[in-house]
Amino acid sequence: MSPELANTTTVAGAFPQRAKRVFIKTYGCQMNAYDSARMAELVAPLGYQAAERAEGADLVILNTCHIREKAAEKVFSELGKMRRLKSARGAQGGAMLIAVAGCVAQAEGTEILQRAPFVDIVFGPQAYDRLPQLIAEAERDGGGVLDTSFPAETKFERLPADRRVAGVSAFLSVQEGCDKFCTFCVVPYTRGAEFSRPVAQVLAEARGLLAAGAREITLLGQNVNAYHGEGPDGGSWGLGDLLSAVAALPGLQRLRYTTSHPRDVDDKLIAAHRDLSELMPFLHLPVQSGSDRVLAAMNRRHKADDYRRIVERLRQARPDLALSSDFIVGFPGESEADFRATLDLVEEIGFAQAFSFKYSPRPGTPAAGMPQLPEPVKTERLAVLQQLLREQQARFNAGCIGRVLPILLEKPGRHPGQLAGRSPYLQPVHVAAGAERIGEIVPVLIRAVEPNSLAGAIVDATAAASSRGDRGAPAA
Ligand code: SAH
Ligand code: SF4
Ligand code: F3S
Repeated sequence: MSPELANTTTVAGAFPQRAKRVFIKTYGCQMNAYDSARMAELVAPLGYQAAERAEGADLVILNTCHIREKAAEKVFSELGKMRRLKSARGAQGGAMLIAVAGCVAQAEGTEILQRAPFVDIVFGPQAYDRLPQLIAEAERDGGGVLDTSFPAETKFERLPADRRVAGVSAFLSVQEGCDKFCTFCVVPYTRGAEFSRPVAQVLAEARGLLAAGAREITLLGQNVNAYHGEGPDGGSWGLGDLLSAVAALPGLQRLRYTTSHPRDVDDKLIAAHRDLSELMPFLHLPVQSGSDRVLAAMNRRHKADDYRRIVERLRQARPDLALSSDFIVGFPGESEADFRATLDLVEEIGFAQAFSFKYSPRPGTPAAGMPQLPEPVKTERLAVLQQLLREQQARFNAGCIGRVLPILLEKPGRHPGQLAGRSPYLQPVHVAAGAERIGEIVPVLIRAVEPNSLAGAIVDATAAASSRGDRGAPAA
């Protein structure tokens, strides 16, 4: 899960009864991005079209993240801006409903309504299928509407079955919630207990996304490889089985899944990396720390050597697999030796990219009550780890120069005449190409590494076939 994407949802609503505009700002992980897309679909029949800016919007939804203190605090500063826009709109005789959704809403719903009484609606990640009713209640009662329930029947049963909008690359939540209770983490509290959607429901939604133009699907879950959905035969399917079924759908060209827990990597999942050509050779597998002492205090339920063994088996199954991970430095009690163990693990494994964070104490989690490390120690360790990870990423990217990689063209690039796509290893790649090629997978000769992407040129397919292609060994 790449945390704090802080991107803005630009899914277009359709079929307006009366032109109204909704602006949705998404923080946090891909599951929030998925939820935002579904919220846009839910309000489209009420006449709301997607807006690129909050100015002039009739409805603003902040879909929030509670994972670290900084992420949660961002919401309150953003709300300050929204309050000013709401007053400006009121002064012009208009109205703006402000809604706070997502994990901060779940964790701090009542506090939000107290601290920011101009917020009209607060609802949690498992209650947003009720958004049309919540809007109606807010309009009727003048705001202050709160729904942070965990209904027994999941939202997926109540969300509209068909997906109207899909980019070339689409997210599909198949699993939600978490029962792992890592001692640092708020997710089990904000998203609730783990559940898996039935296989038939997932396949139906995947077919809908493909019909709407998706070429790549990323199966999502806070702990996606703990997936155990009800199969069509009545038995329980794991993620390996589910990936095989989705890979077989006509029109699906690329498949990914995130985020996984090392503890739940099983034989079938490893085999899927060997057997499914649609499954991209890139895996985000958070390890958090390389020290067994810290991993135990985190309640991660695996040791550093377990992680090494899993990576070895995955690489045997798919030699060009590129790895990504999450790390926390400065967890309570982390010694210099513990931190060194993390650096050693990183040196050994070699990551194509990674996210790393200073430990942030979260209210209500066990680690928040443990004796904390001084801030400068955390800052220093983060800098050292990030330097190493940056070097590994740079090496991995540089190793792509001169290779021809299949790139899925996803959207217009920053400059005219340019498109942005992704390599199998999830690297953003820019090429010169016309917008009519969006959705194609093209062979691209990688020529340069730019600060946040690779740059290359489309070559003909014969050149692609003679290159090392997408099965060469990773460079990191
Ligand atoms: N389900 C995923 C991670 C979800 S949260 C997993 O099991 O790995 C995304 C990342 O945020 C985590 O992997 C962790 O590295 C980081 N994170 C979570 N809680 C944090 C905290 N309290 N302080 C700092 N980083 C944290
Ligand atoms: Fe959080 Fe741990 Fe669950 Fe990941 S596995 S969501 S880190 S509790
Ligand atoms: Fe953040 Fe909630 Fe995702 S806390 S990382 S938005 S599950």
